[in-house]
Amino acid sequence: MSKPTHLEPSELGTKEYWDSLYTAEISNHAHNPADTGTVWFDDSDAEAKVIDFLSDPDSELHLSLEESSFLDLGTGNGSLLFGLRDAGWQGRMLGVDYSRQSVEFARRIAESRSQDTETESEKPVEFREHDILQTPASALLADVQQPQGWDVVLDKGTFDAISLSSETDPASGRRVSESYRARVAPLVRDGGLFLVTSCNWTEEELKSWFEGARKDGEDDGDARGWRFDLVGRVEYPSFSFGGVKGQTISSLCFKKVRDI
Ligand SMILES: C[S@@+](CC[C@H](N)C(=O)[O-])C[C@H]1O[C@@H](n2cnc3c(N)ncnc32)[C@H](O)[C@@H]1O
Repeated sequence: MSKPTHLEPSELGTKEYWDSLYTAEISNHAHNPADTGTVWFDDSDAEAKVIDFLSDPDSELHLSLEESSFLDLGTGNGSLLFGLRDAGWQGRMLGVDYSRQSVEFARRIAESRSQDTETESEKPVEFREHDILQTPASALLADVQQPQGWDVVLDKGTFDAISLSSETDPASGRRVSESYRARVAPLVRDGGLFLVTSCNWTEEELKSWFEGARKDGEDDGDARGWRFDLVGRVEYPSFSFGGVKGQTISSLCFKKVRDI
């Protein structure tokens, strides 16, 4: 399947935008600790729906409430990981973001949770500064004692932001969004899941970005073959307009499968 047409770049594709947003959110939080910032796609209730999807006891995702590990790419205020903790997920959780201010903000929220009697006994959620497109994957694998990869890698709105970047890969001259899949795959353990939520791409478009075997020219540093198989989707209300059915948001779940 060919890749969808690129999006027109916007300021949401720049680090400056996110740095200044989280600087403002840190300041709001300092004035009002109950203000924990923006939850992206709140109008579609995406965070709760993603958590319900992962927590469904009838799903065939084979996750363990006690042990499954989560890596959240472009974590922002860490809200999705805190939501998973609140839903009873007890395994290791790491949120990463290229904005230093995001990491500072998420750590402050984690600190307040550690002082709250309802959440003080839970395992802390970890946060780290990391540029998914620039920093080597080893920084989120062996360097953080997770050498086999993560059980679940999450992306809520981060591929969207990266798709709005005007930057190009110096080696290929192509938009950086094209190298994202090869950056994500090494972080997912064999048999693990990648769950991506987007408001910029339809389900069909997400499939063409992420589904299937390694593509020509995709450089993930892995000598062995792998593919992403679609194993689930989050249900959102759909609308009908002019006879065409659509959704304003899409979440697809892929499993990393090794070719023998
Ligand atoms: C739309 S926000 C989503 C934040 C969070 N996932 C949520 O759902 O609330 C996109 C996030 O991706 C981060 N981001 C964008 N490009 C990134 C990159 N190359 N590496 C790491 N984080 C990135 C931004 O700083 C921002 O926090």
